[in-house]
Amino acid sequence: MKDYKMKVLINVVHPNLESSSRVNKSLLNIIKNQPSITINNLYEKYPDFKIDVKKEQELLLNHDVIIFQFPMYWLSSPALLKEWFDVVLEYNFAYGENYKLENKIFSICTTAGGSLKEYSEHGGNKYSVEDFLKPFEGTASYTKMNYKKPFIVYETFAINDDNLDKEAKNYLSYINDLIK
Ligand SMILES: Cc1cc2nc3c(=O)[nH]c(=O)nc-3n(C[C@H](O)[C@H](O)[C@H](O)COP(=O)(O)O)c2cc1C
Repeated sequence: MKDYKMKVLINVVHPNLESSSRVNKSLLNIIKNQPSITINNLYEKYPDFKIDVKKEQELLLNHDVIIFQFPMYWLSSPALLKEWFDVVLEYNFAYGENYKLENKIFSICTTAGGSLKEYSEHGGNKYSVEDFLKPFEGTASYTKMNYKKPFIVYETFAINDDNLDKEAKNYLSYINDLIK
């Protein structure tokens, strides 16, 4: 048996988590008191987009599993996450002479207003959520991180409380599987 418990960092990227989120808030509620999980609320820390690069890099170095959790906004993440990648994954930190994140797990939890059907060849979005997440998968590959299958909640506008509860439990199992 492993005696070292893997440490999980959840970078949450939602501009209105406190005021208007229902789905992401529920997903976080079930995991927020779990040992070995750090929740890092990026919009709360950096509403002005002025990211503390060293602090974010330190957090990454101190964890084994990095999860990015966000609602789908225009088929991608909210804007702060792009800025976070642009400034935090520096040359000689994430790539170049040093790959300091090498072998860490990179995973995504995203919530989508659209249905699975809308995210298919004949649906309004034409491609799957997994397809839209390819830039993240490529980033993981470029930095030699270990990309995992994402956790996705669909139809956030229609999901009832019971199913949302189930999804929150599924999210917890998903995280437990990542750290096995
Ligand atoms: C600016 C904006 C853009 C959005 N773009 C998409 C989108 O491209 N695809 C989609 O499925 N849902 C989209 N949505 C719906 C959100 O993904 C959905 O409201 C969110 O996942 C619900 O989670 P929450 O309750 O935590 O806010 C968008 C919502 C907003 C506000």
